[in-house]
Amino acid sequence: MIPAKLLHRARADVALRARWAVLHGGPRAVLPSRARAGDPLARILLGTGGWGAQYPAFEQIRSRGRAITSRIGIATVDHALCREVLRDRRFATVTPEDVGIPRPLQWVVNHSDPSLPNPVEPPSMLVSEPPDHTRYRQLVARSFTPRAIETLRQRVGELSEELLDRLSGRPTAELISEYATMLPVAVIAEILDLPDDSRDRFIEWGGQAAPLLDIGLRWETFRSAYAGLAGMDDYLRDHFARLRRRPVDNHPFARLAHDGELTERELITNAVLLVGAGFETTVNLIGNGIVLLLRHPAQLDALRRDPSGWANAVEEILRFESPVQMTGRTVTEDLTLADRDLPRGAVVSLLLAGANRDPQVFDRPAEFDVTRPNARDNLAFGTGIHACIGAALARMEASVALPALFERFPDLGLDRPPEPRSNVTLHGYRRLDVRLGDPQRQSVSD
Ligand code: HEM
Repeated sequence: MIPAKLLHRARADVALRARWAVLHGGPRAVLPSRARAGDPLARILLGTGGWGAQYPAFEQIRSRGRAITSRIGIATVDHALCREVLRDRRFATVTPEDVGIPRPLQWVVNHSDPSLPNPVEPPSMLVSEPPDHTRYRQLVARSFTPRAIETLRQRVGELSEELLDRLSGRPTAELISEYATMLPVAVIAEILDLPDDSRDRFIEWGGQAAPLLDIGLRWETFRSAYAGLAGMDDYLRDHFARLRRRPVDNHPFARLAHDGELTERELITNAVLLVGAGFETTVNLIGNGIVLLLRHPAQLDALRRDPSGWANAVEEILRFESPVQMTGRTVTEDLTLADRDLPRGAVVSLLLAGANRDPQVFDRPAEFDVTRPNARDNLAFGTGIHACIGAALARMEASVALPALFERFPDLGLDRPPEPRSNVTLHGYRRLDVRLGDPQRQSVSD
């Protein structure tokens, strides 16, 4: 006889495979041929051509008008249009039910729900709508007040000095794993009241789950992403149970666990969203910033001379190499957008990184310029009711981490070309090998 546990696991595996086949297998069968036929949206969604190849594809879309309709769907790189859609309540966030799946296949998706806390499925606030969205957001926002961020600023400052101390005196370092990841993951750990020794596990699970924002995943990637979700689910269940056994204190997430204002699934799903949204994005902001500044040494020198320019430099990094390249919205009623009649259920791809290079808004958009006067008009954090809840936090982390690194290592340089991540929506580097320069010239921490 087959043991019950094995049978359960086999059933779960079949259900997951069915879910993958509908959500990713279908698009995977169509996108490559559309990309070969020259469809710019298919090329962008697949990440064809590697680092930077999306920018000419954005321009191809721009040259065809404010929005394009291809066989894959509707897409725009128009700044004003992206902004308009994100702020228009007739557009809702996209869930698996919205991606134009025929009804019988929809049944497969609903009946193969592994009940794991998926950041791109409800009850994640990222894909919930009011009134649920409002409730989740208000409760989670307690961790993101200006006061909470100021407290974290000090922690980030100390931690970045600690991390830089560990690198001091060494000839080389790999800055994604040894620096850029460590700051945001520590911040998320503080926000969720996680023990320090859980960080490595969250780094691994977060990395596994990050591809879920992309379309047309390979089965192995999808399965590994769900393994990451399962790891976080198990851990966070125990963690919140531990917090409930502890006397209630002022920590916002500990209070959330005690109050019972969110169901267990709502609490854990939104915690997983914070892990993913919180460090899988900020690591890219810091990593992309390091590379851009090393490649523009005159601008880096100017920042070293006048550190008051750092806040604007962070905006320009967000604009120029946007850590979240795109999002999407679905149409909730028949409407007209940029002279196109869109039926209810149509999905619009909002290519934020393309909007951030819209020449109607940004002069010389393909030039990196940390003194750009309107760099802050970028849409890197979205806008409207789903605008990034962690925007101020991410800006703070980068504006502490980048100056601290460049101040400590005046001779910092790339040791070899940085290696891009394979993700499409999340845009950044997987490895960033640098030379730290002459130890005699490295400054010491106070
Ligand atoms: C450079 C870093 C970051 C970037 C570029 C970024 C980008 C974004 C974008 C574009 C959205 C909107 C998505 C949409 O409208 O469909 C978003 C939402 C969100 N972000 Fe961020 N994010 C960053 C950092 C963070 C951090 C540090 C946190 C938390 C610790 C966070 C938590 C969230 C959450 C919870 C949402 C959903 C908000 C809602 O639906 O109301 N993000 N982010």
